[in-house]
Amino acid sequence: PPPHLIFDPSFLSTIPSIPPAFIWPEAASAHDQHASTPSHSHQFIEVPIIDLAQFRNSSTSQTVANLASQASSDIGFFHIVNHGVSQSLIEEVHAHTQGFFDLSLATKQKAGRFPGESFGYASSFTGRFSSRLPWKETMSLQPSPVSNISSLLEKVLGDEHRDSSKVLEEYSKEMIRVGLEVMEVLAMGLGLDRTALRRFFELPDNSSILRLNYYPPCQQPGLTFGTGPHTDPTALTILHQDNVAGLQVLHNGAWFTVSPRPDAFVVNIGDTLMALTNQRYKSCVHRALVNSKTARRSMAFFFNPGFNITLSAPEQLVDETNPRAFHDFTWAKFLFFTQSVHRSGVNTLHSFN
Ligand code: SIN
Ligand code: FE2
Repeated sequence: PPPHLIFDPSFLSTIPSIPPAFIWPEAASAHDQHASTPSHSHQFIEVPIIDLAQFRNSSTSQTVANLASQASSDIGFFHIVNHGVSQSLIEEVHAHTQGFFDLSLATKQKAGRFPGESFGYASSFTGRFSSRLPWKETMSLQPSPVSNISSLLEKVLGDEHRDSSKVLEEYSKEMIRVGLEVMEVLAMGLGLDRTALRRFFELPDNSSILRLNYYPPCQQPGLTFGTGPHTDPTALTILHQDNVAGLQVLHNGAWFTVSPRPDAFVVNIGDTLMALTNQRYKSCVHRALVNSKTARRSMAFFFNPGFNITLSAPEQLVDETNPRAFHDFTWAKFLFFTQSVHRSGVNTLHSFN
């Protein structure tokens, strides 16, 4: 297990005030309209809705692509509907996620994730940073090759792992299918060939991560964050949130809550796609709030390119007014950089936590 185990989530819920390590100065900042309220208030935003069924219909695909492109250059977030992932599969993933986090801390620690590692169980309660811990637990799985999901779950669940593994493997395959399709939409929206972006993400060269998030209720939700403000280092993040509001995006200087919508996935642009589109698409700052009443679940699929594929913005996106903004890079180098920044204890925007 990780070396500095500090708090057990079930213990944390029983004490009157949260430990100082969970208090974020930003959460209590006077500049934040949600600051210091006993429980955060929500100003909802309806992000653009991208209908993949309409994209598949050739008479409407360009219109859908243009809408997605507009959303990606403006707010960096959109909902996708008619994605083809069955509602029952999504519900099963939520149920297995709940089942996993309901296990005892000692059991979950059998798949404990060390600082700097990408896969396994982590709670902020394991002290990866000296301060500003997020109020959440996470379980991160590696979907390619897909057998890595069952190997990790088996450590925790033993012979009982099969149902969960099957559900999460199926879900991951669906997420890769959806991610590739969204890449087609986003390429078409830039006037590129449909395959211009998806070619960096084709299996087996895809290093995506499936992260299950669990945010326990918090007795002082106005002082902390479930996930602090950050941008995602990913290409795309494809998220399903349960019906508890919590995800917020910074838009025109204010925080807006992305309304939960059970039939949709929230898609946001990450830093890698921002670089790959020569900054045509924006990786926007977002965060997750917690509340005092209910736990909240979300499943984030971090859609990433192959580790060693050279990422270079297509020539068509580079001209005199838009010179190349980034050197060519690989996901491996980029990830190493963001993680080494973490190890040094400096909190950057590129937080994978
Ligand atoms: C969420 O739980 O809604 C989002 C978390 C994240 O951005 O990492
Ligand atoms: Fe994020």
